[in-house]
Amino acid sequence: MDDPLLAPPMPALDWVSEATACVTRHEHGLLRLEAVAPDILRLRFAPSGRFAAPRPWSPVLELPPAGLSVHEEDGRLWMETERLSARLDLSSGAVSFATPDGRPFAEDLCAPGWREVALEETGLQHLPDTELPPGEARIGVGVRKRMAQDEGYFGFGQRDGRLDRRHRRLTHWTVDRAAPGHGLGEDNLYQAQPTFMAVRPGLTWGLLLNSTWFSGFDVGREYEDVLTLFTLGGELDYYILAGPTPAAVVEQLTRLTGRPLLPPLWALGFHQSRWSYGTDRDVRALAEDFRQRAIPLDAIHLDIDYMDGYRVFTWDRERFPEPAATVAALQALGIRTVTIVDPGVKHDLGTGYGVAESGVAGDYFLRRPDGELFSGWVWPDESLFPDFCSERTRHWWGDLHGSLIEIGVDGVWCDMNEPSIVDRPYREPGVTEFPIPLAVRQGDEGEALHAETHNLYGHLMARATWEGLERLRPARRPWVLTRSAFVGTQRWAASWMGDNSARWEDLETSLPQLASLGLCGAPHVGVDIGGFYGHSFGELYGRWIELGAFYPFMRAHAHCDSRPQEPWSFGPEIESIARQAIELRYRLLPYFYTLAHRAHRSGEPWWRPLLFDFPDQADLYAIEDQIMIGPQMMIAPIRAPGLRRRLIELPPGCWYDFRSGARLGVGPAPLVMDAPLGAMPILVRGGSVITLGNVRQSTAEPLGELMLEIYPDDEAEGFWTLIEDDGESFDYQDGALAETDCRIAPLSQGAVFTLAARRGEYRPAPRTLILRLHLPEAPAGLTLDETAVEDWRWDAELRAAEVRIDDDGQGHRLVPA
Ligand code: GLC
Repeated sequence: MDDPLLAPPMPALDWVSEATACVTRHEHGLLRLEAVAPDILRLRFAPSGRFAAPRPWSPVLELPPAGLSVHEEDGRLWMETERLSARLDLSSGAVSFATPDGRPFAEDLCAPGWREVALEETGLQHLPDTELPPGEARIGVGVRKRMAQDEGYFGFGQRDGRLDRRHRRLTHWTVDRAAPGHGLGEDNLYQAQPTFMAVRPGLTWGLLLNSTWFSGFDVGREYEDVLTLFTLGGELDYYILAGPTPAAVVEQLTRLTGRPLLPPLWALGFHQSRWSYGTDRDVRALAEDFRQRAIPLDAIHLDIDYMDGYRVFTWDRERFPEPAATVAALQALGIRTVTIVDPGVKHDLGTGYGVAESGVAGDYFLRRPDGELFSGWVWPDESLFPDFCSERTRHWWGDLHGSLIEIGVDGVWCDMNEPSIVDRPYREPGVTEFPIPLAVRQGDEGEALHAETHNLYGHLMARATWEGLERLRPARRPWVLTRSAFVGTQRWAASWMGDNSARWEDLETSLPQLASLGLCGAPHVGVDIGGFYGHSFGELYGRWIELGAFYPFMRAHAHCDSRPQEPWSFGPEIESIARQAIELRYRLLPYFYTLAHRAHRSGEPWWRPLLFDFPDQADLYAIEDQIMIGPQMMIAPIRAPGLRRRLIELPPGCWYDFRSGARLGVGPAPLVMDAPLGAMPILVRGGSVITLGNVRQSTAEPLGELMLEIYPDDEAEGFWTLIEDDGESFDYQDGALAETDCRIAPLSQGAVFTLAARRGEYRPAPRTLILRLHLPEAPAGLTLDETAVEDWRWDAELRAAEVRIDDDGQGHRLVPA
């Protein structure tokens, strides 16, 4: 073969099909194609002729199998479901996929290939290992596919850099890049999500590489228009997601890897953090400050200094003499406490430290290949590391959270779980990373090497934590925050993007970074507002907090050496900007909470790139600095100093300015908008109903008011369903929900607004309903339920007709005359 792209052909010797799968036998290996669902096919290729055993901790769920019809014709094997087909060329072993109407995609350029790989070739850094462990860990398997020229490639998990990853080589290996401001590189970071979607007008498809080993995608970098999938572990195993839209791909991906959790309502409020609010007095003063300054706040995070010598699940009794009293004092102000928990358990045996002792007694910690306990250094110096692949260990770890629950802690922040380990105490010179050797065995049966499970360390720690909280406090939804994650972690935790810096570039990179994660099934994401490393400053903080009000997870956090970074640390102007931004966050919570429910139902990310809502507009694919917040809003953040106006591309449809109520125009069209500090542009799509609450200091206060801001489109009808529940329990799973359907006729048909009677068993507390219908000019009058309304007003500034009624849960119809 002259063409360096092609692995040798791999003719099929014979094939057999079952109801849901088809297996072809080749001289070197087996290839199996399975219908996991009508819109999801799984392809596995094992050069050894043996497929890997299922793993108990696999991030991929078992779905009820779907039927696959198989027939041979013209030297090809055709395998079809109702939604997707695959074609295997029997002489070459190459596979292609196609839509039901025959449009091909993800076409192999050749059969899969494999060979033994050396450690250096992988680009894996920071390992003490000089070689990969013998056996399947060394067998690299891959395949090359044609990239259609008009496809954009999106998703690819947590990394910096651009949204569209064409021309990039992207690897998957969780790592703590501890350098201040990991910058705009595209390397693997704390999390690994080996999944992407290819988007072109009319067709989006997705791929999930089912490998927890070191793996990667070369997206047309090595060879133009050639996509290479590769993984260690001796087997190629991937799922093809039929789409045909980005929303459908995320739905398919989260059907496979689990739907995102539904956070408790308080977790959507504002969180204030710092390394560290280190004493009872600091924490109480902080909470009082928020309340005195009337800046809404729902959670304070306690970083590592609350612990006794960084021993997890202990308290430093000098700093926090009575932790339960500290937590209760916050609770009295409507503020929850979140505590950090690191995986490294201080190697402290024989001194009465129960966590280390019970861990050794239960044999829950990792052991080196020679059988000795593995230890490395983290905050508490020499530490032991739980094996989260073991179910027994996860159970033990989950139960340890009982001590925090008793104190009244509401959320748990899992950090350093890539895991991040060094070779000596941090205070000594020459500190070097010291990862877990690849040949360490993990799992209840010692079934897997660390080389296979490394990427799951944080994922399974988050799972153990969530499951522990759920067992310990079954009536309330757990809330877990994690730094490391894999595909599927969305079932158990929100995540933040680790240690960014107080720089404009870091604000900027958060836009595509969080948008990419949303496409990978992880909607509950945010970054440290203000920046972690370095000293933040007024303009940057102001811009960041106005933007951060829209992050699905909104937390401000800073390094121990950074100057104060609370909302009031930059003077009165920025304090007032921060207050307004956070107040807006709280007003938008009914909308955001509905978005959280939608994410929970279908994976739909609430922070998403334009291509998610407009996949047929190829000219919008590259836009990274406009973000859709659910289907109804779009923000246009400011990413650089000094800017006070900006250019915006209006996507198709008619658009309104959320701040002024003005109708901005109809897209596609460019537009320039003013963007004074504190007022980044926020746009609303015609045909929307944005639900706003009153300003509250925390979600513990009742919602006294529900405002429906109604924006008719010119031509299209708009629909929205507000979703509510008690915000705290699992009762919504048994019907304790309130769903309210809204319909808004287009301006061309009179902009009639219809509110359906509330569905479901949850009853919101009594409140006023404010209907605000945005119209080009004041109507002559309004009728509500066929009766002329006497008491309405025209808000000339915001161009809205406003009516107030008691929220009686009944259907209503508002007609402008
Ligand atoms: C890590 C975390 C950071 C935390 C610090 C101390 O750097 O990413 O958020 O403040 O550890 O616990």
